[in-house]
Amino acid sequence: MKQQWWHDKIVYQIYPKSFADTTGSGIGDLNGITEHLDYLQELGIDLIWLSPCYPSPMADQGYDISDYRNIHPDFGTLEDFDRLVAEAKKRGIGILMDLVANHCSDEHPWFQAAMKDPKGYYGKYFYIEEGIDGKEPNNWRSYFGGSAWERVPNTDNLYYLHMFHKKQPDLNWENPLLRQEVYDFVNFWFDRGVVGFRIDAITDIKKPPTLRGRNYPPDREDGMVFCKTMLQDAHGIGDFLTELKEKCFAPHQAFTVGEVCGQREEETADYVGEDGYFSSMFDFEVVSEESKDGGEWMKKRFITPQMYRAAMERTQKRMEPIGLIGTVLENHDLPRIANRMLRDEDRTDMAKKMLAVLYLYQKGIPFIYQGQELGMENTFNPNVASMQDVSSHDEYRVCKEAGLSEEEAVRIVNRYSRDNARTPFQWDATANAGFTTGTPWLPVNENYTRINAAAEVADADSVYHFYRRAIALRKNPEYADALVYGVFDSVHFADDNIIAYTRTKGSTKLLVICNFQNKKTSCHVGKASVLLDNYADTCIEAGEMTLRAFEAVVLSVES
Ligand code: NOJ
Repeated sequence: MKQQWWHDKIVYQIYPKSFADTTGSGIGDLNGITEHLDYLQELGIDLIWLSPCYPSPMADQGYDISDYRNIHPDFGTLEDFDRLVAEAKKRGIGILMDLVANHCSDEHPWFQAAMKDPKGYYGKYFYIEEGIDGKEPNNWRSYFGGSAWERVPNTDNLYYLHMFHKKQPDLNWENPLLRQEVYDFVNFWFDRGVVGFRIDAITDIKKPPTLRGRNYPPDREDGMVFCKTMLQDAHGIGDFLTELKEKCFAPHQAFTVGEVCGQREEETADYVGEDGYFSSMFDFEVVSEESKDGGEWMKKRFITPQMYRAAMERTQKRMEPIGLIGTVLENHDLPRIANRMLRDEDRTDMAKKMLAVLYLYQKGIPFIYQGQELGMENTFNPNVASMQDVSSHDEYRVCKEAGLSEEEAVRIVNRYSRDNARTPFQWDATANAGFTTGTPWLPVNENYTRINAAAEVADADSVYHFYRRAIALRKNPEYADALVYGVFDSVHFADDNIIAYTRTKGSTKLLVICNFQNKKTSCHVGKASVLLDNYADTCIEAGEMTLRAFEAVVLSVES
């Protein structure tokens, strides 16, 4: 593998709205991030991915952009942004922006012009089609529920396409003028000093050649079909992405990570191989395990150690000849990992530390989502109507339509709501967890007096300090080469609740072992020296290791 500057980096994802508020507005801001850069530097991360902080009506919390070249006034100004980039750089940290270009906001001037003149210049920036027999042009259902088509105001029979919310009209990448607009604003941010991008919903930018009348067999009683089904007839995305790379990413030697979902298996190397469109893409294999029998929240399964191992093995095997995957436990769309993978009675600091070990040493670029390093947990909101996440409302409706009781529907929606990951960052035990002096836009998780950064920074045994040590090990020059480039091999011990793997490079062999259960077990490790353990001591006798509940270790073993 040709070495790249970003191969050994660790990325930290910030959701600006919920990180730190310096104005008392109840909404986090860029200055809040700048103020806390020392905290992030201490943790040991190299890059920050900022979820969208552009002007937006916030129908989808900023993934609906109304101006690609500015900062939302709630988050600050372009000057604040420049200061953040400069201060981060002083600490050796690079900034990644979120590139959301499958769609924009219906409040973007392009769309407003298109609505005034749907057949005109800006109409061609979007997908606008005639309906059929007074109905939508086809039977696609949007990601957030309901038809993916919305009537163009003041017309009888014209509709625009929105794969996501109706306030997120899809941009038409077939139009070279639109593509050039995208490249121009991407380069605008490179000129301001960003080192790369996370790229949103990118597989959706290529549509089949005709949309009108392209119906697929319905997959629910509503007679519609999940819009992503269209990918089976969408070919040729590579032309767009090669152009994007050549005009924007390559000249800036950028680090880019794609939210690539639903691509054809054989195209993975085109995306992230040595000459791929992007540097990396996220590993969503566990998410697909979780949703295997459906996709709607009520059909999701609790992630067991065996499911996790199967997903990990699939990803690692698939990626070995290709490149580095972005390894994740959490992001702003997923529930907190402590709730997704640990049962109520097992949700301890020890188990949370084990989850860190589980993924940090796999082959890939680790992403840490804000608060994950503290072991932040899901929240509970009995009033679904007051949830901020748009997808929660549709999933609630789906649960109710399927005949679930109110209690069950509320439980399920709370389990998977995207609000879980978006509650304010817990800085300390003062009011509102020190996030804001005002009223937080989303209530703070009640557990903030117990789980917060100040307490954890002061406690050498905290989840936070364990993440620090774990990151430091990944960067230890003696092992970094093996951890970045070493071959991954899954190891199966007799006890099926142990997840283990090795990373081997030359004469260095590291063995990672996670006892994913609330009971003691043992395994054979041979001659080994201990590099990391979430317990204070390690029990190895005559090559036999005793593993206590949720114990996780990294060992250097004989190759
Ligand atoms: C993926 C983003 O992560 C999610 O938050 C958003 O709702 C959709 N893409 C649409 O932009």
